[in-house]
Amino acid sequence: MANLLVRDGSLRRVIEAAQAAPSLHNTQPWHFAVDDGGTLQVRADLDRALWVADPRARALYLSCGAALFNIRAAIRMNGFNPLVWPLPQPTFSPTVLAVVRAEPGRPPSLAEREMFHAIWRRHTDRRPFDSDPLPGPVRTALEEAAGFEFASLRLLSSRDAATVLTLASRAGAELARDAEHQAEMQDWVGTDSEQDGIPAAALPERARRRPAPVRDNDMAGAVPTIPRQSGDYEQFPLLAVLTTERDEPADWLRAGQAMQRVLLTATVHGLAASFLYQPIELTDMRGDQAPAWPWPEHPQMIFRLGYGHGAAAAPRRPVDEVLSRTTTAE
Ligand SMILES: Cc1cc2nc3c(=O)[nH]c(=O)nc-3n(C[C@H](O)[C@H](O)[C@H](O)COP(=O)(O)O)c2cc1C
Repeated sequence: MANLLVRDGSLRRVIEAAQAAPSLHNTQPWHFAVDDGGTLQVRADLDRALWVADPRARALYLSCGAALFNIRAAIRMNGFNPLVWPLPQPTFSPTVLAVVRAEPGRPPSLAEREMFHAIWRRHTDRRPFDSDPLPGPVRTALEEAAGFEFASLRLLSSRDAATVLTLASRAGAELARDAEHQAEMQDWVGTDSEQDGIPAAALPERARRRPAPVRDNDMAGAVPTIPRQSGDYEQFPLLAVLTTERDEPADWLRAGQAMQRVLLTATVHGLAASFLYQPIELTDMRGDQAPAWPWPEHPQMIFRLGYGHGAAAAPRRPVDEVLSRTTTAE
């Protein structure tokens, strides 16, 4: 059976799946290079790094990890098995975050097919959610999704959620006072680009009750002239924190894959999600070890989960812009 990643049509579909991954401010900080033997490199695109907001490149690794998860899911969808070598090796440039090959495997299971189809239905939803509780089996599925990728998901009690929300809101207010951070954000938020950035239609509503469980102060606040309608967010938002035991680049890449498995699992179960990354972002900007965090593990992402009403899709670049072909491994 010919290698999946040397066939043009299937390769393009795999890259489209990778491109559908979430990334901080939809920067899409990735590039993919495939050689004629079907070895695919997932590379960091440093021209798309956020040098103010993401000085340690944590968000870049998380985003590329999510793209890597989608590549794995797309390879499985084709009945192949992904073989993944993560992180820099002496033979590759340090911007190569993972190398992937596809080997013939068994047909995809129903769960794997559902996961793949969810890639295209998932959009960050910053609007208010219905506050129906999550059924027990859905909570378990989300926790297991993180565990499969060697991370943990803490679904927070409303008391812990209130603590985290206060942290997020304070971090957002501090970031909103940082002129360099605001300037960088304005390049990406509320733009009318057809290829990247967060479109005005995907911005959060103006929360009637504070603190807002979405990224309002610094993100939507960076583009004050864009009109937004007011909304009533959940009184007790359901927040979840994705954590890892260690906090090195390899953990960020793994956490990115875990983040995407959690998000796609949520989508399969009819849930919507948004992110509250600002306390983690601020910690990295200040060079601190961890946010004022009540738990021993390292937080990598904070999600808000709930039943949404459909969200605007953010644009993506065309495949030819993110894919290059090489004859030998570079
Ligand atoms: C590491 C990371 C951090 C993010 N942080 C936030 C955030 O704090 N607030 C937010 O509303 N969206 C956040 N997002 C979501 C992105 O803005 C979103 O993925 C991107 O705009 C693409 O849109 P989509 O998810 O609808 O495809 C984050 C995504 C990633 C991967």
